[in-house]
Amino acid sequence: MASLRTSAGRSLLRASARLAAAATSTPSTHALRASTVATSSARQFSSTSSQRSDALFVHRNTEYNNPDIPFEFNQENKKIADEIISHYPPQYKKAAVIPLLDLGQRQNSGWTSISVMNHVAKILEMPPMRVYEVATFYTMFNREPVGKYFLQLCTTTPCMLGGCGSTKILETIQDHLKIKAGQTTPDKKFTLVEVECLGACANAPMIQINDDFYEDLTPETIVKVLDGLSKGEKVKPGPQSGRHSSEPAQGRTALTSQPYGPGQHCVPEFA
Ligand code: FES
Repeated sequence: MASLRTSAGRSLLRASARLAAAATSTPSTHALRASTVATSSARQFSSTSSQRSDALFVHRNTEYNNPDIPFEFNQENKKIADEIISHYPPQYKKAAVIPLLDLGQRQNSGWTSISVMNHVAKILEMPPMRVYEVATFYTMFNREPVGKYFLQLCTTTPCMLGGCGSTKILETIQDHLKIKAGQTTPDKKFTLVEVECLGACANAPMIQINDDFYEDLTPETIVKVLDGLSKGEKVKPGPQSGRHSSEPAQGRTALTSQPYGPGQHCVPEFA
């Protein structure tokens, strides 16, 4: 006890007292605090549908996703994988983990199963846990099956405010496909998720479908896009408003003349 009379000893006592107080506070106190925060501040600012957070990190073996389901790259992807790995010094080949996971996801109908991760770990001679860490960190890796068309609707502020707004587009998609964000249609054609900014804010609101961006959306054009894809048609990606790239909607206001080539000079004309 002599040591507890020192200042370090007194700090230790105070810390123990705080821990004891925390341990004896009733669960209902915590629950009350949590519910106060949830109802008084966070909830009223968000309309995002709640999703199970354990889908982000935890793997549970299921019938369709367990290590006994075989997976390996097909011949074509094996060649691509070898090519990717050849870009790195042999001792650093684990740097190829992201492109290889992406390759595996593409071969595995758009999602990264535990068998895909294990195969990548085997090829790159990495501990599987290191691969799981990467796959769970990056949201581009889907660890649950997705539909043929993976709809990633941007609902970040510029898209929420641009054009008719992403909230209207979200409602339209949900009504049209009869699913909520985070769900897949029963025919496994479409999976809808909300995502953060995809870097096409000048063409808001926008959606990424598989690898393509569809921009300047309205409720009418997004329905047209979905119907076209559903029928197996090739739908043109990019702005659906008819404008070129992210030029002003009323047409160009600058750089309207032919650019002059190298060696030519722009000589100002004097009257
Ligand atoms: S906010 Fe939607 S693309 Fe940037």
